[in-house]
Amino acid sequence: MNVHPELLPAIERFELPDELGFGDTLAPVMYRLDYADGAWGEGQLLPYADISIDPSAKVLHFAQVVFEGLKAYRGEHAQVKLFRPHMNAARFNRSCARMLMPELPESLFIEGVSAVSACVAPLVPGLPGQSLYLRPLMFGTQPSLGLAPSDRFTFLVIASPSDALITGALRVVVERGMTRASTGGTGNVKASGNYGASLHSSMAATDSGFNQPLWLDAREQKYIEELSAMNFFAVIGGELHTPGTGGTILPGVTRDSVIALAGDLGIPVREGRIAIDTLLQQIRSKQCTEAFACGTAAVIAPISVIGEKDGAMYELAEVSGPVANRLRDELLDIQEGRAPDRFNWLYTAGM
Ligand code: COI
Repeated sequence: MNVHPELLPAIERFELPDELGFGDTLAPVMYRLDYADGAWGEGQLLPYADISIDPSAKVLHFAQVVFEGLKAYRGEHAQVKLFRPHMNAARFNRSCARMLMPELPESLFIEGVSAVSACVAPLVPGLPGQSLYLRPLMFGTQPSLGLAPSDRFTFLVIASPSDALITGALRVVVERGMTRASTGGTGNVKASGNYGASLHSSMAATDSGFNQPLWLDAREQKYIEELSAMNFFAVIGGELHTPGTGGTILPGVTRDSVIALAGDLGIPVREGRIAIDTLLQQIRSKQCTEAFACGTAAVIAPISVIGEKDGAMYELAEVSGPVANRLRDELLDIQEGRAPDRFNWLYTAGM
């Protein structure tokens, strides 16, 4: 890996703002790797800067672009720790395969996220809920207007010292019109187009006083899938229920971690179909006591109400209830170094 001579001075000059927000403060570093003639070049650690791209680059026309989201923590660790980066590397390659993009060797994905985190270690915030949010992405750069896969690609890792994405409880609205993903589509990978296509419903939700749409399956519009950038969980009769990842749902790293933690804490977990109308009745009858969303950016965010566009509201009996709270505390305690890493989820950043 090459390290640009201007990088360290750029990091030394950089001052963190008082208010970080989520994803708004960009760390003064980026990792870049280019793919051409069937091979990856050498990684470069560069000062964060604009990149130039040909206006006919395939990504701008055909959205041949995938991304990841993962976090590095200072917390109470002596060194910056990444959370489960190998899981992100594996999912990244599943996204690449679906979008006909070249495989990125796991070692290069880890080199990128690890080197970026280590070189901005002094800028990784350490208050509870804070982290360095990392955004690896890959896109097709071949200049040509024909509909065909790109033959050259750029892989970047950029990073943002951030606060938690969500602080309060979420108000979600059932999306019974548009759909996020269908069988055989790209819903189970992190193709950027999935997120672009979710924006219309997300903005409509915000305009009507909600935070996010709750997506249903495209075939029957009957079963819960996920939120736009988070997986969905509900506590029903003391058991934790979440939609199974059967092809249209993103298999979240946080989702997987919640399931592992719940199992370890003796909370029964059921992965399978959750019919929206049944769930809404279970909320009314208080059989469903809690619901929450989870994701890398969001961690675990309680849901206070599930609403319908016709105005019907289903208020959860417990907001930030015992199950969501316990799982959130357990997860953050591991991530931020207050509890032993009993699942071996942390990876020390280095370069
Ligand atoms: C993440 O949690 O990393 C996501 O992908 C959500 C992001 C789109 C804000």
